[in-house]
Amino acid sequence: MVREWNRADIPLVAAIDRECFTLEPWSEAEYAKEFSSEWFCGTVLEIDGEIVGYVCGKLVFEDAEILRIAVKSKWRGQGLGGMLLNGFIDSVKMRGGARVFLEVRTGNVAAVRLYRSRGFTLTRERKKYYADGEDALEMKKDL
Ligand SMILES: CC(C)(COP(=O)(O)OP(=O)(O)OC[C@H]1O[C@@H](n2cnc3c(N)ncnc32)[C@H](O)[C@@H]1OP(=O)(O)O)[C@@H](O)C(=O)NCCC(=O)NCCS
Repeated sequence: MVREWNRADIPLVAAIDRECFTLEPWSEAEYAKEFSSEWFCGTVLEIDGEIVGYVCGKLVFEDAEILRIAVKSKWRGQGLGGMLLNGFIDSVKMRGGARVFLEVRTGNVAAVRLYRSRGFTLTRERKKYYADGEDALEMKKDL
């Protein structure tokens, strides 16, 4: 089941972050801060009561930005990332969003493929964008 975030989901999402973003996980406090913003948009995917993935971002007027998306490693490669992304896009559309932006590491093959398959197109390549020197791709989808 894809559904919107509740405040109670934050510790579980932060735990997924520690598994999926070993270099730069967000803490519960960081998520709580984002969640409290009037612009916050978040979708989780629950299977048999377990949160197996999430996506979150911001919607400011008509422009949405994806901040994070992750699926627990043992659940990957079966279309769940795509379901989450669709859920996020539906939620943004319902709230009046017209565009979704994101940036992704060039080497993140799975994420780039996920975004491309859901209609995101490349708008700009940013050299050495990340602290470790990796380039970023900026992508956009019109809704
Ligand atoms: C990116 C991520 C959310 C994708 O989740 P997922 O559930 O595996 O995604 P899906 O099964 O829906 O697959 C999405 C696409 O990626 C492709 N893909 C998945 N894993 C892949 C891999 N390891 N290598 C290449 N392509 C891959 C799939 O074939 C699919 O492509 P298609 O739509 O053209 O068929 C997941 O890999 C993840 O959590 N990664 C770690 C966190 C991360 O890097 N997030 C993105 C930056 S915020």
